[in-house]
Amino acid sequence: MRVTITGATGLIGPAVIAELRRRGPVQITALSRDVERASAKLGGDVEVARWSALEEAAPADALAGRDAIVHLAGEPVAQRWSPSAKQAITDSRVIGTRNLVQGLAEAQPRPSVLVSSSAIGIYGARHEEPLDEEAALGYGFLAETCIAWEQEAGHASELGMRVVNMRTGVVLDARGGALAKMLPPFRMGIGGPVAGGGQYVSWIHLEDLAAMIVTSIEQDSWSGPINATAPEPVTNRELSHALGRVLHRPAVLPVPGFALGLLYGEMAEIVTTGQRVLPAKALVHGYQFRHPRLEEALQAALA
Ligand SMILES: NC(=O)c1ccc[n+]([C@@H]2O[C@H](COP(=O)([O-])OP(=O)(O)OC[C@H]3O[C@@H](n4cnc5c(N)ncnc54)[C@H](OP(=O)(O)O)[C@@H]3O)[C@@H](O)[C@H]2O)c1
Repeated sequence: MRVTITGATGLIGPAVIAELRRRGPVQITALSRDVERASAKLGGDVEVARWSALEEAAPADALAGRDAIVHLAGEPVAQRWSPSAKQAITDSRVIGTRNLVQGLAEAQPRPSVLVSSSAIGIYGARHEEPLDEEAALGYGFLAETCIAWEQEAGHASELGMRVVNMRTGVVLDARGGALAKMLPPFRMGIGGPVAGGGQYVSWIHLEDLAAMIVTSIEQDSWSGPINATAPEPVTNRELSHALGRVLHRPAVLPVPGFALGLLYGEMAEIVTTGQRVLPAKALVHGYQFRHPRLEEALQAALA
């Protein structure tokens, strides 16, 4: 199998590469803004080509002849949302995906599938409503960014490609993302529920996300939006308590929402609001979660 991955140098990319290798022989090309740094991170077995996602079409020769493209590149969302940060978050996904599809239009032979990242933020802030892939989409900065991002990826279907939009939940891994940010206070015993703790956190273990991405490459029946979350979304309070138990630390100190607002501004809404997302399509397709239960998933993520 031959696969090209954008944004391969982040949290999710190396797990996708590991999962592809676990399933069989694979030739991987990574598209990165910084070839040297990417080669150092990904190792000599991964071919790296330069792509400046905002400025140019993706290089067609790094896409042609591949079986699949996995699109992960994007400006980190977990930063203070200044006007320029918001612009970078949106542009890297909307213009970046447009430039990827433009490269695909020029690629011959063209890959048959594009698996493009998206996020559960597409549903907006939704309290307790269970959300499968049929649910109405939301409002606000993140939802509107995700909607535009999926629309751009969708243009690859006009090129005859199958398109999968992985609506990714909160990825659990100790090396990065939300869990890495939660760990220091929880390890010190000063962690606890945020903003009342009633808001839902739809999480997924990194290994399951990687397995779902690779399964969606292999299985033609996977297409369109797919919720990449475990079947057991929990409240922020339940997540705090489970993390406390796994770390053998108290997890009772509440963190008021306004304190996060002061620290992070508008971005705090990622943790002060939530979505209760269900992986309906993955379950219908028979996907077997490796880490379906939160406490075990946390233990595995911290092992
Ligand atoms: N981690 C999560 O919990 C989570 C949840 C939902 C959705 N997602 C989405 O899944 C995708 C991959 O997630 P991740 O956590 O692996 O991401 P990440 O580590 O933050 O970044 C992935 C890669 O994107 C590239 N990148 C960063 N800023 C960019 C910019 N301004 N323009 C173009 N490329 C840029 C970088 O690659 P180079 O430096 O090599 O170019 C980076 O290594 C992202 O789009 C993210 O929004 C992640």
